[in-house]
Formats: sequence, C-alpha cells, structure tokens
Amino acid sequence: ARHLLGIEPLHPVEITTLLDLADDYVGLNRAAVKHSDALAGLTQINMFFENSTRTQASFELAGKRLGADVMNMSMQASSIKKGETLIDTALTLNAMHPDLLVVRHPHSGAVDLLAQKVNCAVLNAGDGRHEHPTQALLDALTIRRAKGRLHRLTIAICGDIAHSRVARSNILLLGKMENRVRLVGPPTLIPAGAEDWGVEVYGDMAEGLKDCDVVMMLRLQKERMDGGFIPSEREYFHRFGLDAAKLAHAKDDAIVMHPGPMNRGVEIDGTIADDINRSVIQEQVEMGVAVRMAAMDLLALNLREARANG
Ligand code: CP
Repeated sequence: ARHLLGIEPLHPVEITTLLDLADDYVGLNRAAVKHSDALAGLTQINMFFENSTRTQASFELAGKRLGADVMNMSMQASSIKKGETLIDTALTLNAMHPDLLVVRHPHSGAVDLLAQKVNCAVLNAGDGRHEHPTQALLDALTIRRAKGRLHRLTIAICGDIAHSRVARSNILLLGKMENRVRLVGPPTLIPAGAEDWGVEVYGDMAEGLKDCDVVMMLRLQKERMDGGFIPSEREYFHRFGLDAAKLAHAKDDAIVMHPGPMNRGVEIDGTIADDINRSVIQEQVEMGVAVRMAAMDLLALNLREARANG
C-alpha cells in the first residue's frame, strides 16, 4: 500500500507482517544504541492539528531512530491560523518533497482527502471519530505479546464508543483477526446499529466483562460531544469505571488496556491502572514507537519501489 489511512483496507496477512516487524523493533528500542538506517535520506513531516502526547512523540522518535530527517510542524503557529486551507497547506509542504507525512486532524476523512493531493506516503495519526490505525496496531501488538496470540480472544471495549476512533480501528482489526469483540457502555455512548459490526453489545459491566481475556477502557471524549448529553463523572465511574470489583468478572489473567490520555477516577480507578500484574498501559506506549517504526519502514519500502519503477 502507498498510505496507512485506516485498518479497514488491511488484509490480516498485512497486519501480521507489520506486527512481526514491529516485534523486531522492540528489540532495537531496548538496545543501548537505538539506530537503524531504514529511513536514511528520507524526510518525515508531522502535522498535528489536534493535541497529542503519545502519538506525536512516538512518531518523532520512530522516525529519528530509523534515520529520517524529521520535522514537526507547529500547527498553532502555521498559516492555517491566517485562513489557509488544509489542502493548500498540504500542497505547500508537498512542494518541499517530503517522503512521509504524518497527519492528525479533528475531521473524519480529512487525512484521506489530503493523501489524494500529495506525492508522498501519508500516515493517519487519528482523524475525527473515523480511524486511528497505528493505535489499533500497537494495541494488537501489546495483546499478542501478553497473550501469545491475536485470535480467539474475548475482548471488551468499554466506555465512550460513539466518539472513539480508537474503538473503531480496534473493532475492525480485532474482528479481522477472528476475535470475539464486546462493546460495553451506556446506550447514549454506543452508536445505534453497532450490533451490525459483528460485535456483542452490553449495557452492564458485570455481564460485558464476564470471562474476558482483555479489558480495554476508553476516555469520555467530551471534546467531541458537541453539546450533547455528558454524563456526571461520579455516576459514570460508579456504573462504568473499571475498579477491582468490576474487573473480578473478567478472567483471572485478563489484561487491562487504555490508549491514553487517561482520566483516573472517571473511566478507570488509578489503582487498577498502576497494577503491573494487570495493566499493560505502559507497554502500549512502548509498542507505539515500535509499531510506528514498522509502519514507516514498510511504507518507505513501497515508496522506494514505486519510485524505482518510475
Ligand atoms: N492514544 C493517543 O492517541 O494518545 P495521544 O492523543 O496523546 O496521541
């Protein structure tokens, strides 16, 4: 493929190939000298039109560890503030001959649109409620390393599904790899018709978490609630926040995940988040760098091949 815009077009074999390469990069990231020349001579530009800690930092580190020239655009200080459109900004940067463009944007579909206008490889770092493919891939690598496989697992994705691109990409990926996916949350935060996505839907944590291998918690994404109903945090934590009593319904060896940023005491109890016997939240962050290295390495191979073939 030329771009990584979402999980939807990926074949399970492509997912496995990427995760295998990412596994190798975990070793490089843990080594004393963290350097490879896989992206040497290539230019990577990171354009984040929405806030980010994990994704932006890990894409930057990933590019640098692979030897790319990495530039982080400061979108707050860019000419977008003077009224320049996304497409004009993209065309301007395209004229500087980048090889890899990493883009996060608040509007669903904006990254796909931009990818149609440029000559380089585009990686979606999250677009609106649509997709966050590298998050789902890093979640998949974390699950595979913790459970020893990425199929025939029961995985509960809990909380604000309706506003979550992380949920959407994970539902697609985990479904393609033949897992049983459950969505657990209040009806107001689960999209109508979600049952048609090949998942089971639960409105109760005890039922939804019963015998799960993986419990994935999501943040209440108030910034995307557009003035709609926002639940009280106290009430929400009582019914849907992950604490020891609710986690007891999952399997004894179930792992706890959260993509971050995390709101302790709202969707997850801090004690559970910090419990190194159950929580793999820090491993998710570590796998984020390795997965982004693998994604950029594979896209750069395709880019070089396409250029060699004229
Ligand atoms: N999980 C995630 O995308 O985190 P950031 O918003 O900090 O990048």
